[in-house]
Amino acid sequence: MIEAAEKLAIHGGTPVRQTLLPYGRQWLDDDDIAAVVEVLRSDWLTTGPKVAEFEQTFADFVGAKEAVAVSSGTAALHAAMYALGIGPGDEVIVPAMTFAATANCVVFQGGTPVFADVDPDTLLVDPAQVEAKITPRTKAIIAVDYTGQACDYDALQAIAHRHGLILVADACHALGGSYKGRPVGSLADLSIFSFHPVKHITTGEGGVITTDNPDLAQRIRVFRNHGVTTDHRQREQQGSWFYEMVDLGYNYRLTDFQCALGISQLGKLPGWVARRQTIAHRYDVSFAGVPTVEPLGVRADVSHAYHLYVIQLDTMRLGATRAEVFAALRAEGIGVNVHYIPVHLHPFYREHFGTGPGLCPVAEVAYEQLLSLPIFPGMSDRDVTDVIAAMFKVCDAYRR
Ligand SMILES: Cc1ncc(COP(=O)(O)O)c(C=O)c1O
Repeated sequence: MIEAAEKLAIHGGTPVRQTLLPYGRQWLDDDDIAAVVEVLRSDWLTTGPKVAEFEQTFADFVGAKEAVAVSSGTAALHAAMYALGIGPGDEVIVPAMTFAATANCVVFQGGTPVFADVDPDTLLVDPAQVEAKITPRTKAIIAVDYTGQACDYDALQAIAHRHGLILVADACHALGGSYKGRPVGSLADLSIFSFHPVKHITTGEGGVITTDNPDLAQRIRVFRNHGVTTDHRQREQQGSWFYEMVDLGYNYRLTDFQCALGISQLGKLPGWVARRQTIAHRYDVSFAGVPTVEPLGVRADVSHAYHLYVIQLDTMRLGATRAEVFAALRAEGIGVNVHYIPVHLHPFYREHFGTGPGLCPVAEVAYEQLLSLPIFPGMSDRDVTDVIAAMFKVCDAYRR
């Protein structure tokens, strides 16, 4: 069989781009760097005043009472499962279409993730599938705002309420988005964010948990600090050496210089989300008449934060596999990616939880057709044009 690259060379000549355009990238200005340097010159590199300032700024931004900063989105998920008391014998429902960390956090605490299938149009967790997976052992539901579009929180809250369950939002894709006019971060009992460089704002690595429940927030503050009730700065202020470890915790703290970066970045978020939405709109318009390219559906009641722009390829009509289209676009200098391999198909889950093909058929079929196109605020209009040109070029080459 003719290789994708050869086939395109026949049809296309030189690649659209000479250098690879990544699918996501951070944006750092001089004032971000200055904010970090200022903290590096101060007394408190960690557990200092910038942590509380970042937490308050973040909580205000998403309309939550409390925000707790931790060292990654994964640490935030782990802390959430701890705060809810998830343990052996407990089940937590998670969508099949997500990053593995969404399910792993349940396993960290000795619980069992139960995979629910997604809606074929949006690839967001299907509330009916969630309800079908509830058993007497179910304790919580983790919804994932996949690609940056909020889930149907009214439907999920109703299910959680009916069955006495806690609703957690893995909102790592959706900072700056909203649902029925309410900001992501205020829609569930606990909401989780990540500040990895490909996300909406970055602290290098980092995460936050938001909640309106002060008891849960306090449990998470103890958990992120070795299970110890006071931190170094509090003891210093009280002039005391005394502390007690009341539970098994971790060192999941975020440093002050990372929090300074977070504060600086958060101020720019609305403009960055608007730029992501503009790029997504150009893709939507360009692919509207292309029968082999189907962007994911977007509900009317959300403001989409577009961490990712995901398309589903009609691989039958195209006469090419996703792997071939992926390779061809990479050869054109477009850094496409795939989000995600459904979690229940990973060897770890097959081996330890007996999952496998057939468990979540919608996610499994979608996975074979997915591609994430580059989207990040620093993309120029020319970069967007290149992505669109490469998509047309590759689709045309295969349809001949
Ligand atoms: C949906 C989702 N959940 C959790 C995480 C974990 O976040 P982090 O990389 O900050 O640990 C990610 C990050 O890729 C994610 O996309």
